[in-house]
Amino acid sequence: MWKNTFIVSLATIAGLLPVCEGQVTDFGCCPNVKVQENFDIKRYMGRWFEERKFYAEFQAGVTCSFAEYTLQGDGTVKVNNTGYREMTGNYTSIIGQAQILDPREPAKLGVRFFPGTPLGNYWVLETDYDQYSIVYSCTQTSRFFNSQFCWILTRRPGPVPASVLDRIYSLLKGYEINPDYFKVNDRTRCPRV
Ligand SMILES: *[C@@H]1O[C@H](CO)[C@@H](O)[C@H](O)[C@H]1NC(C)=O
Ligand SMILES: *[C@@H]1O[C@H](CO)[C@@H](O)[C@H](O)[C@H]1NC(C)=O
Repeated sequence: MWKNTFIVSLATIAGLLPVCEGQVTDFGCCPNVKVQENFDIKRYMGRWFEERKFYAEFQAGVTCSFAEYTLQGDGTVKVNNTGYREMTGNYTSIIGQAQILDPREPAKLGVRFFPGTPLGNYWVLETDYDQYSIVYSCTQTSRFFNSQFCWILTRRPGPVPASVLDRIYSLLKGYEINPDYFKVNDRTRCPRV
């Protein structure tokens, strides 16, 4: 049980597993969002740091998360999510796979960490490839509720510049996605990676 909780927590690093702790439950339908146009998956590959994400109640002591995306020969993406475990004082990784589901909308990816499990949504709402990425997932859990995840990823481990953050927040608010749910990662005590 403890082990499962730990694995699920790792899977949430950099926001890749929608059905787990940390999701935000909201009334109504998933908002109708636009995703990054002409998404260039090659430029998107490489390392991304988790800068902030929607509130997670229980993080199992995993901090300083980052993801490494690598395009494979078959067009899928190897996902390597790494987080620092306060308890053991070292980094632990989990490997998953992401893929573009419909080539007409390449910014909508599905991702899974365990074979046979359902794909979680990984939608890139907007990215400039070199600075930030806004990743969003919304799942309609019933007629009346949805559960949402949102992450801001950055190429560098530092904070997002204020001007960029303003832009991101107004984009989200435009979709009625509430940025108040964000919790900023405290990276001040992160070891160097
Ligand atoms: C995942 O990333 C970590 C940190 O960069 C690295 O140490 C590890 O070897 C990677 N694992 C795989 C299977 O690529
Ligand atoms: C992390 O630390 C624990 C306990 O110190 C050790 O058992 C484990 O092998 C370490 N894991 C890695 C990936 O270094």
